[in-house]
Amino acid sequence: MGVNPSLSARISGVGAFVPPKVMTNHDLEKLMDTSDEWIVQRTGIKERRWVEQNVSTTDLGFEAAKAAIADAGLKKEDIDMIIFATLSPDHDFPGNACFLQDKLGLAGIAALDIRQQCSGFIYGLSIADKFICSGSHKNILLVGGEVHSKGLDRSPKGRAVSVLFGDGAGAVVVSATEVKDPKKDGHIIATNLHADGAYAKELWLPAPGTGFDDPDRMSMKMFEEDMHYPQMNGKTVFVHAVKRMCETLVHSVTSSGFSMQDVDLFLFHQANMRINDKVGEVLEIPAEKVFNTIQKYGNTTAATIPLGMSDAVKAGKLKRGMLVASAAFGSGFTWASGVWRY
Ligand code: UT7
Repeated sequence: MGVNPSLSARISGVGAFVPPKVMTNHDLEKLMDTSDEWIVQRTGIKERRWVEQNVSTTDLGFEAAKAAIADAGLKKEDIDMIIFATLSPDHDFPGNACFLQDKLGLAGIAALDIRQQCSGFIYGLSIADKFICSGSHKNILLVGGEVHSKGLDRSPKGRAVSVLFGDGAGAVVVSATEVKDPKKDGHIIATNLHADGAYAKELWLPAPGTGFDDPDRMSMKMFEEDMHYPQMNGKTVFVHAVKRMCETLVHSVTSSGFSMQDVDLFLFHQANMRINDKVGEVLEIPAEKVFNTIQKYGNTTAATIPLGMSDAVKAGKLKRGMLVASAAFGSGFTWASGVWRY
């Protein structure tokens, strides 16, 4: 199949879903030695959502997907590929895209999981953009979803990581389009993807896995050593996040022929309000151009950017035709950025 040079991809629909149960910082004070004051000062988080125990990541993704497909004005049968970005899948294998495909009743279409953690949504957007622009697919459903609460150490010793994360899902439909007026028509303009595996163990979930000198992927020893809980060197992650998000964001914006001032709205990954404030300060971005949701959802990893997009639309802060720039950083280390006209 030849590539049609006038073919572009646009975000035709967006949707999100968070579970109803709110866990405030005060609720966490009852589980671990932490305080609302510490969490708000260090992270900006006031509350996050946690699922009930019978709810999975694809349950959240299913609701977000239905909303995104409806927002695009499409029927689910119009979707010809599903990409699911998550680090907290329903099961180790097969991937969440297969489980979601079955829930949507879309047997036969391509279903792909990606594991790029906090950068997963922008990686997925880039993949969807390329498939659409190749002419092979017309409407790709991209979901970022996480159920963190079931994987966190909710005991007192887990406080350094567990207060940061929340559950939720966001989804977009990426559709083929022909751009007549690049200053008005929605289209994905640039995505840039990066990783540095030398830092893989600065933020990781070691077990279950084959990377141990052990006959089993999961053993009592791994349990006893808390290898089944995420482990993070927060300060290292913080420093690299600010540096890499600034770098990649400026690269995406300027290599697309725009200045930072041209951008109408910045949608950053939501790991820590202080990271986003620092990026804004370094790049002299006016605070009113940054849409944050971390205060109410915490860090929902692959879901933060589509969740933010959906909330920004509902809040009237994101409208069709606006120029959006986005950047994310997380485990891998991976980082990524994108620019699109919404
Ligand atoms: O999505 C990408 C992934 N993650 C990130 O981007 C996270 C990046 N890093 C961060 O956001 C910050 O490093 C954290 C919020 C994780 C931590 O903030 P910090 O300012 O780097 O704090 P710290 O780890 O240096 O801890 C400071 C103190 C320590 O006590 P001492 O040693 O000074 O007595 C911790 O034990 O705060 C203590 N502490 C807590 N206290 C109350 C750590 N966690 C908590 C807690 N509640 N939940």
